[in-house]
Amino acid sequence: MAKEGALDDLLAEVIARYDGSPDPRLREVTVAAIKHLHLFAREVNLTRDEWSIGIKFLTAVGQKCDDVRQEFILMSDTMGVSTLVEMLAYDASAAELTDNTVLGPFYIPNSPERGRGETMLVDPDDGDRVVVRGKVTDVAGNPLEGVVLDCWQNATNRFYACQQPGVQSAENLRGIYRTGADGTYEIRTIRPVPYPIPDDGPAGDLLKKNNRNWWRPGHLHMWIRQPGYKDLITHVFDVESDFLDNDAVFGVQQSLIREFTTDAGGELATTFDVVLDRS
Ligand code: BEZ
Ligand code: FE
Repeated sequence: MAKEGALDDLLAEVIARYDGSPDPRLREVTVAAIKHLHLFAREVNLTRDEWSIGIKFLTAVGQKCDDVRQEFILMSDTMGVSTLVEMLAYDASAAELTDNTVLGPFYIPNSPERGRGETMLVDPDDGDRVVVRGKVTDVAGNPLEGVVLDCWQNATNRFYACQQPGVQSAENLRGIYRTGADGTYEIRTIRPVPYPIPDDGPAGDLLKKNNRNWWRPGHLHMWIRQPGYKDLITHVFDVESDFLDNDAVFGVQQSLIREFTTDAGGELATTFDVVLDRS
């Protein structure tokens, strides 16, 4: 028998073993995964040694995971699969909705409730003070009141509070804001800086071996929720940030990039009691 034919026969026999599966969706997903795995091995003519290296690699990915570290999600993020799944789940083009992007591993539920314009900076930080303002509407443009904006970002030392227990306060740079009657919100924070995704595990090793960037551009995360509407998980990116064209996790959408303008007249500094040091 020709080799290609034997390979096809093997794949067909494996797939046929799932004919009796009682769960059609489980069967569909399992069979598709097996099929693509077979075709992948055939495409690259995978050797025994390479398969063994692959299994050791995936074992190391699993061993790196614990309650706070999820190396499989990092693999998915850096291969663009998390963004792909987001794209499949949410079609912003359908109704001119705000684009979504990846959740990432640093979201912590139950952030403190913060008032309009209150800062979410709790710890000392010499980052630029900024005010983020916006408006949430429905697709028809009607303002939505009481919408939750669950926000989180990294400190100027590049780390999220959850990455530095005992160094940063647990509630640093996290907060739940709500829109007012006119749909607007105001968040006081610091200008987000670029940061490296966790690179001390197998996902980081693989990036480095392939000369890939492992940094993300500066961004503020928002998970926006309102009963009766679909959740929106998104970011606001800084137009002046490095890595916008080379985000390690493929999360940048052009529509989510914004400019931080200087408060030349001092209006915001007065409103938000921001003290500027010009020395
Ligand atoms: C983040 O933006 O927090 C993030 C997303 C994916 C991987 C690592 C970090
Ligand atoms: Fe982030």
